[in-house]
Amino acid sequence: MIPIKTPEEIIKMHAACRVAAEILDEMSNFAKAGVSTQELDDFGRELMEEAGATSACFGYPGKKCKFPAYACISINDELVHGIPSKEVILKDGDVLSIDLSVFYDGFAGDNTRIVRIGNVSPEAEKLSRVTEEALLIGISKAIDGNRVGDISHAIEMHAIENNCGVVKEYVGHGIGKKMHEDPQIPNYGRAHSGPTLKAGMTLAIEPMFTQGNPAVYVCDDGWTVKTRDGLLASHCEHTILVTNSLPEILTLVKK
Ligand code: MF3
Ligand code: CO
Repeated sequence: MIPIKTPEEIIKMHAACRVAAEILDEMSNFAKAGVSTQELDDFGRELMEEAGATSACFGYPGKKCKFPAYACISINDELVHGIPSKEVILKDGDVLSIDLSVFYDGFAGDNTRIVRIGNVSPEAEKLSRVTEEALLIGISKAIDGNRVGDISHAIEMHAIENNCGVVKEYVGHGIGKKMHEDPQIPNYGRAHSGPTLKAGMTLAIEPMFTQGNPAVYVCDDGWTVKTRDGLLASHCEHTILVTNSLPEILTLVKK
């Protein structure tokens, strides 16, 4: 069952997503060479406290242990669910994704941004750009009457056209009172397949691509997902609202 949000719920989704986007924006600006990912996470935790929001990730149950930090920070060959650490100091050429999911006034907002530190390699820049483009292309298919497979297929095609690997193990998702609701939104699939999209659905769309082979594994820490071949991985995400016309990106920062 895919929840259709009421107008009142949509107002609250807007608010939760605005908080998530503003905090992610500040965290992205804070990420610089010399800063540890732990400091970045601490900064995010303080911003959430100030905003009256809580992390949807902290304490999230996993197979081995609960997620121990406030945001997921994944660097270079890490795809998703990276655990912030004092030992990981950002340096020139690193590419990271900061995945921030918050609860605010009973609703979840979820977004992930790619941050480049200084000068990144052409390979890293290309993979990041293709992933960001795929997100916007996927979002453009989130139209009332389309089906989930239309989003999935468009994202996959953009990866294939650009020789990027498509990770199959992790997917986007509906979002609302819970961080994860129906439907699942894979980054691959057949057009005109899957559940039909309706105005009032709120979805987290999140392409996950690799530079090389798309095979990934979960590290011994129980969370960090890395590429098997050690090549780069990339992930970005927005929460969007399906409307009667164009989709609305709820996690865009309006300045
Ligand atoms: N933003 C992530 C997602 O889209 C959150 C899961 S990470 C966890 O699913 F830490 F909460 F597990
Ligand atoms: Co998500």
